[in-house]
Amino acid sequence: MPLLEVKGLTRRFGGLIAVNDFNIDLGEREMVALIGPNGAGKTTVFNLVSGFYQPSEGAITINGRDTKGMRPHQVTSLGVARTFQGIRLWGEMTVLDNIRVSQHYRAGYSLLDCFLRTKKYMVREKEIERIAWELLEAMDLKEYALELPRNLSYGMQRRVEIARAMSLKPSLLLLDEPAAGLNSADVEGLIKLVRWIHDTFPVTIWMIEHQMKVVMSLCTRIKVVDFGATIADGTPEQIQNNPLVIKAYLGDDTI
Ligand SMILES: Nc1ncnc2c1ncn2[C@@H]1O[C@H](COP(=O)(O)OP(=O)(O)OP(=O)(O)O)[C@@H](O)[C@H]1O
Ligand SMILES: [Mg+2]
Repeated sequence: MPLLEVKGLTRRFGGLIAVNDFNIDLGEREMVALIGPNGAGKTTVFNLVSGFYQPSEGAITINGRDTKGMRPHQVTSLGVARTFQGIRLWGEMTVLDNIRVSQHYRAGYSLLDCFLRTKKYMVREKEIERIAWELLEAMDLKEYALELPRNLSYGMQRRVEIARAMSLKPSLLLLDEPAAGLNSADVEGLIKLVRWIHDTFPVTIWMIEHQMKVVMSLCTRIKVVDFGATIADGTPEQIQNNPLVIKAYLGDDTI
């Protein structure tokens, strides 16, 4: 059974078909890219899979569960974590707290436990803190733990967002343009980081990315969409030589 199964996914916004009959199966520990020109419908696919939007048609199954009607936090509890095209960190909280707070939806204690500071609460809080520090250390962010994200470079903020997603121990990680706006040193760092995550955790990674260097060095499969429709699906090699893909990107020097 695939980890993620998407069948006939379609999403309309008024008269616009943002995603049209999109299909994909992702297996455990795969690393796959979704590419396509601006406005092709890539982020909409992620918003549908993560429960931010409901499909107009089609079905999404995660670990065998149909996500129809689920809210984003319910999809998260099925093992899906994501980052956003524009970084969304809590600006008034430290890096450490950004990572701690996101784990609370599955903290496993009640509000009463929290008020009464029960043993269950204390044990779980310790565990959350431990996971946060471990991730910060492993992702070279420890020295920024007590900083506010807005005081960090863009590249570091991206790492924090990925660390926050990983603190949820996802089985599926969705990265929406993780290399956007990064300088070339940060792009190298990002490639290493994503590879390390993939080698270290039992996680399937699905990324939207315009920088072909990132896609080609990390992904074994690439799916290409244009105007909501899938125009190609294959290995990096097949995609690079596909005339439809070259046509879709004509005038665009990212590929
Ligand atoms: N909430 C919405 N309401 C109306 N239209 C939307 C909404 N979300 C997306 N769209 C439209 O759907 C189409 C696909 O948008 P989407 O953001 O998925 O593209 P994308 O492939 O991620 O593009 P980019 O590379 O620029 O991020 C666009 O025409 C966009 O304007
Ligand atoms: Mg997008």
